[in-house]
Amino acid sequence: MTEQAPAPTDKPAPKGPPPRVFSGMQPSGTLHLGNYMGALKTWVDLVDESRRTGLDCIFCIVDQHAITVDYDVKELRAKVVDAAVCYLAAGIDPAQCTLFVQSHVPQHTELAWYFNTIMPMGELGRMTQFKEKSEQHRQSVSTGLFTYPLLMAADILLYRATIVPVGEDQVQHLEFSREVARKFNGRFTPKRARPTFPEPAPRLSATPRIMGLDGMHKMSKSRGNEIGLLEEDASIRKKLKGAFTDPQRMRRDDPGRPEICNIYTMHRAVSPPALVEEVQRSCTSASWGCGDCKEALGNNLSAHLTPIRLKAKELTAKPEQVHDTLADGARRCRAIAEETMREVRDRMGLVPAKG
Ligand code: TYM
Repeated sequence: MTEQAPAPTDKPAPKGPPPRVFSGMQPSGTLHLGNYMGALKTWVDLVDESRRTGLDCIFCIVDQHAITVDYDVKELRAKVVDAAVCYLAAGIDPAQCTLFVQSHVPQHTELAWYFNTIMPMGELGRMTQFKEKSEQHRQSVSTGLFTYPLLMAADILLYRATIVPVGEDQVQHLEFSREVARKFNGRFTPKRARPTFPEPAPRLSATPRIMGLDGMHKMSKSRGNEIGLLEEDASIRKKLKGAFTDPQRMRRDDPGRPEICNIYTMHRAVSPPALVEEVQRSCTSASWGCGDCKEALGNNLSAHLTPIRLKAKELTAKPEQVHDTLADGARRCRAIAEETMREVRDRMGLVPAKG
């Protein structure tokens, strides 16, 4: 009998685990449309994508970042739950991803400390968010506000996440996190070993920068120029009436420039594509005035946000369910985090406790 050549195998090469997504938000009160259109909507899309691709999505409420500026102790407790309610109501499905509170996983601050020891101060001083916030909180600028990007790098690298959905204002912090990963790998990863940390990249939405109603600064709670994610329709419409648009549109028949108008940007986030096109055409031809664009936006925001508002009301009435979701998430994250930390401590030469 002649020996048969083995049949060629069509088996695909063994694949590594699916990429991991990580992102977080500060619990600074109910989220606003900047948080939603710049980041949270992308989180929801990634969770949906994970059903097909197996992406591992982890989302965090970064309470330890929120305490780097003055805050009210009692309010912080409520705000953490409010943030979780917003995530869940916006469509983050806890059966499909992991949701947790940063302070429930102590490895975040441990890793941040190690990063403190390898990153030079000069790089931290260049961070735009630090410059802006230290300007806003001039009376007391904490050391935590200065070292904030190290904790953010730890949040991401602890889970070896490579996809980080954020708004444009966080891109600089992501560059910094990549620099931290490179520094650590260069100094502590043994030759020929797999790098301790992969380099994470931002994933931006189509509307990564939402301006505030004042048209001067990005939308943010601390500037009081925001529309809340859970705000009632009537209040949103009222705020839109006074919202800044294209300063060149002085009269009703002046043609507008949608590309610089925040109302148009918000249409792009929530309106159906055909309407977005209509707004674009009607603005440049001046067949619509700013009031028409705002009214159409008010209608679409109402259609988009009403189900989120209703779901949030339901969840607020069941805080136990929200706490259970967060506890499950923390349990899973502590296990992943400890695995990374064992390797980090070992590579840095720290001796494990006996037993
Ligand atoms: P935070 O809490 O300020 O904002 C949460 C998310 O919302 C985005 N965002 C905006 N996007 C567009 N337009 C706006 N006006 C707007 N305002 C806020 C932010 O870009 C962000 O994605 N340092 C982070 C929190 C953080 C984090 C992390 C993020 C801590 N650790 C790890 C990702 C990964 C922050 O202060 O975001």
